[in-house]
Amino acid sequence: MQQEKIDIIKSQIASADASNAEQLEAYRMQYISKKSVVGELFAEMRNVPNEEKKAYGQLINEVKILAEEKFQELIERVNSSQNQSKNQDIDLTLPPSNVSVGSVHPLTATRQRIIEIFERIGFNLSEGPEIEDDWHNFTALNFPENHPAREMQDTFFIEKGPDIALRTHTSSVQVRVMENQKPPIRTLSPGRVYRNEAISARAHCIFHQVEGLYVDENVGFSDLKNTLYHFAKEMFGKETKVRFRPSYFPFTEPSAEIDISCQLCGGAGCNVCKGTGWVEIGGSGMVDPNVLENCGIDSKKYTGFAFGMGIERIAMLKYQIKDLRLFTENDIRFLKQFKAMT
Ligand code: PHE
Repeated sequence: MQQEKIDIIKSQIASADASNAEQLEAYRMQYISKKSVVGELFAEMRNVPNEEKKAYGQLINEVKILAEEKFQELIERVNSSQNQSKNQDIDLTLPPSNVSVGSVHPLTATRQRIIEIFERIGFNLSEGPEIEDDWHNFTALNFPENHPAREMQDTFFIEKGPDIALRTHTSSVQVRVMENQKPPIRTLSPGRVYRNEAISARAHCIFHQVEGLYVDENVGFSDLKNTLYHFAKEMFGKETKVRFRPSYFPFTEPSAEIDISCQLCGGAGCNVCKGTGWVEIGGSGMVDPNVLENCGIDSKKYTGFAFGMGIERIAMLKYQIKDLRLFTENDIRFLKQFKAMT
């Protein structure tokens, strides 16, 4: 008698269906809730003779599991049919919403262009860490003990004694490359550098440089000049003039500042070039023999030149950007202007 009743309930559960939330709830009331037919089967337990209790318990447990499994199945069925009807609501004839495509950051584009120019004349790429030790940033590069760059005011030190700092220039990569490679070396090292500067339209505590290094037998100052002439004309146009101004760096001898003719006034004199017709783009010189020796390169056999240029400065001249801070402010109105470069 009980068995029969149970079989009927089982077959009812098996054939139950639901296609919306109300039907789901009806199912729950009928087979899951305390007052459901399954609930009643459990209530019946107390009327079952003791010796049959175990067998009966097993039977009604099976029914309970069956009812619950079916409930889960029906929930999923209702959910997926709801999703489907949602999909059917999509109107494929509507015009698409605007997809806005970003643009390459002007510094990235400038960096890429610089790399391209030097790769074509045989320079490879190298990298070094932004967190640098004293040896690579200063000592190997011949910086005297009392040089101002070694002061807290100029440099972000992470640790003192032994000194660890954020690199102040990409010249540290020169040292790393020379320590690990034999000449001929012809390498370009772009990267981020840090200086403890007050932020203004012309200076920032974070900026980018690109370092160039060429070490081989018989490398002379004329090679340095010709390489940079070539670069300036490729980067800024055939009419661009380059001027080398005597200067001083601890790691090059002789040293020279690299100026190019002002891109705004073409050399006539304006407020960007402060009336001189020239703007500085970097420093350069012949690698000091001490630096070669510090890196294990025979300075009697090999000579080399090096240069370091500011990527922001080059981008500012190329695109006539007046304020260095614009590069890092993420102002979409500024960045959007470089869409054509992508
Ligand atoms: N490292 C120098 C600077 O940051 C630039 C430089 C690089 C000068 C290589 C000479 C040779 O000012």
